[in-house]
Amino acid sequence: MHVRIDRFDPGAATGTELRDYHDLVLASGRVDRPDEEPPAYETVVGRLLVPMTARGPERFWVARVDGQVIGIAVVGFPDDENRALAMTDIRVHPARRRAGIGTRLLHAALPAMREDGRTTVVGWGVTAGGAGAAWAGALGFRVVHHDVLQMLDIPSVDPAVWNVAAPPGYRTERWIGTTPEELLTSYARARGAIHDAPWEETTYRPPQWTPERVRSAEAGLRERRVEQRVVVAVHEATGVVAGLTEVELHETRPDLAYQGDTAVPAAHRGRGIGRWVKSHMVRWLRDERPGVRRVGTSTAAANVHMIRVNHEVGYRTVRSMVDVEAEVAALAPRGRRQAGIDRVE
Ligand SMILES: CC(C)(COP(=O)(O)OP(=O)(O)OC[C@H]1O[C@@H](n2cnc3c(N)ncnc32)[C@H](O)[C@@H]1OP(=O)(O)O)[C@@H](O)C(=O)NCCC(=O)NCCS
Repeated sequence: MHVRIDRFDPGAATGTELRDYHDLVLASGRVDRPDEEPPAYETVVGRLLVPMTARGPERFWVARVDGQVIGIAVVGFPDDENRALAMTDIRVHPARRRAGIGTRLLHAALPAMREDGRTTVVGWGVTAGGAGAAWAGALGFRVVHHDVLQMLDIPSVDPAVWNVAAPPGYRTERWIGTTPEELLTSYARARGAIHDAPWEETTYRPPQWTPERVRSAEAGLRERRVEQRVVVAVHEATGVVAGLTEVELHETRPDLAYQGDTAVPAAHRGRGIGRWVKSHMVRWLRDERPGVRRVGTSTAAANVHMIRVNHEVGYRTVRSMVDVEAEVAALAPRGRRQAGIDRVE
């Protein structure tokens, strides 16, 4: 079997390459994520062109056998506090596994990581107990975080669940894309509460939110043509933001909303604000974006409160996942066989 590894530019890819890639994602999904609906071609290709928030600008390497794309490494190069990380997602067609291709893809990406000053390779959302977790373990990655994927299937949930009374002394505000100026400072402060979520051993750091960071994040979402919807709880006595939840709607995935942060600052916890704002968000989506059938969220397995709130809002837990990390320096190919396969042809 002759395997070629090359850099890849999705913007310049041929229709055949993109169809191969879609086939790869479908085949891998059947094995690695049997609990997920097979994603449409537009969704899969759109994801290549529009990186997920938090992963940063991405670069790509593909593996080909007889000209057919059968593996991919997608590496995100985030900025700011995550400048040392390389957010890596490697996938190999199930029919081509255990032939060293996943490892070759990783090795092909290492020089670019090094040149860019990245010291840690991060893999998010690897199915617990699956091939990816076994592969990562064999290569010396360590598990740094445990998550669960939870999914809300809007049409199948009794809408009465989302009629949650306002906690006394609070009202909601909501917006699309642009935080109202008068709430900006306290919204940025409230977003900082995400730092209280259990991050276990993970090196990734959420942003240190400031009004400027909120504005630049909004601009970044607009640039990627992502619609961000935000629902906040406002504490009426003080006018400050006392809880928030945000979702992202991606053009190429019209049926799915990505749940972003949900955070309630410590002074306002224990009053049901999380459930209230999340329920409000679902009603808003149902009323204004009926095409959105599902909301997906990944939550730290240790975050029992968030998981319970999600269940109360109608989410079900779909699967357990792990996040893995390894030092770039420790992943360099070792031994003659591996040194041989590191070559990028
Ligand atoms: C992870 C993945 C990319 C590995 O691709 P691959 O080409 O099969 O991996 P390699 O052949 O390079 O595997 C190298 C070593 O990892 C270990 N390994 C890989 N898959 C394994 C499995 N299913 N069970 C046990 N060990 C495994 C083995 O030690 C293997 O060496 P060996 O075959 O000589 O025993 C592939 O399984 C995949 O696409 N999984 C789904 C996506 C995913 O979870 N990616 C996570 C990475 S971010």
